[in-house]
Amino acid sequence: MSKTPGAASFRTSAEAYNRHIGRYGSALARALIEIANVSVGQRALDAGCGPGALAAELCQVLGSNGVAAIDPTAPFVEACAQRLPGVDVRLATAEELPFPDDSFDVALSQLAVNFMREPPAGVREMRRVTRPGGTVAAAVWDYAGEMTLLRRFWDAAVSLDPEAAESDEGRSMPYCTPDELERLWREAGLQTPAVSARVVEAEYRDFDDLWQSLEHGSGPSTAYASSLSPGRRAELRDELRRRLGLREAPFRLTARAWCVVGRVA
Ligand SMILES: C[S@@+](CC[C@H](N)C(=O)[O-])C[C@H]1O[C@@H](n2cnc3c(N)ncnc32)[C@H](O)[C@@H]1O
Repeated sequence: MSKTPGAASFRTSAEAYNRHIGRYGSALARALIEIANVSVGQRALDAGCGPGALAAELCQVLGSNGVAAIDPTAPFVEACAQRLPGVDVRLATAEELPFPDDSFDVALSQLAVNFMREPPAGVREMRRVTRPGGTVAAAVWDYAGEMTLLRRFWDAAVSLDPEAAESDEGRSMPYCTPDELERLWREAGLQTPAVSARVVEAEYRDFDDLWQSLEHGSGPSTAYASSLSPGRRAELRDELRRRLGLREAPFRLTARAWCVVGRVA
């Protein structure tokens, strides 16, 4: 069983999530849709949909009738359902998908596999609900390397507080390297698993825009920042600003994701 915080670290509003990590979501979703070769007429599942960045992009290709989405975080499910009328959005975990076998042509998961309580069970379920010959694919951040925002954040945090290393997503997140993803897909019974990198960008008005979105966002980085006293949080803020080396505003940050794709036998 994974030690990751699962749905618990996403007790937040969809708007707060969208300002923080959601900023990168639409661009990453378009990349994942391209990698999975999603095409008109197919039916797709978004497993771990959050407020719906991937489901929204899937609707652009498949229409709302062609898309279903699940997530265990109730405010995200509500936000996704409101944002995307006609999409079948349900409160559920990937480990227990509420769909019969072979329901979809493609099952996708964006930035969620590493938050599942049991990622192998979640991916096996994604395979089960996908028809023979269909596609199962996912994207996760390269937390240990080139997800700039989170990498710089945790480097700053650990430099001020060595105990922050325990929370550093670059160390704590499972299934966030090409080898682990390839093995996860193969062991779930998916054929010809292939992993590739995609780099996306997000824009920030200025450093305050970035810090506010992180401080009031969701997930492990926000949880860590919120756990600090005001004084230590201010030190972390200054250290992050220094490490980002920003010279102008507005600015853009890049984020690298690992994307894995495999076929159902
Ligand atoms: C970083 S967010 C990604 C949300 C969305 N896919 C996106 O790209 O913006 C991680 C999501 O995984 C969801 N999650 C946590 N545990 C899960 C599980 N066992 N099965 C499916 N999703 C899960 C969380 O509720 C959260 O919405």
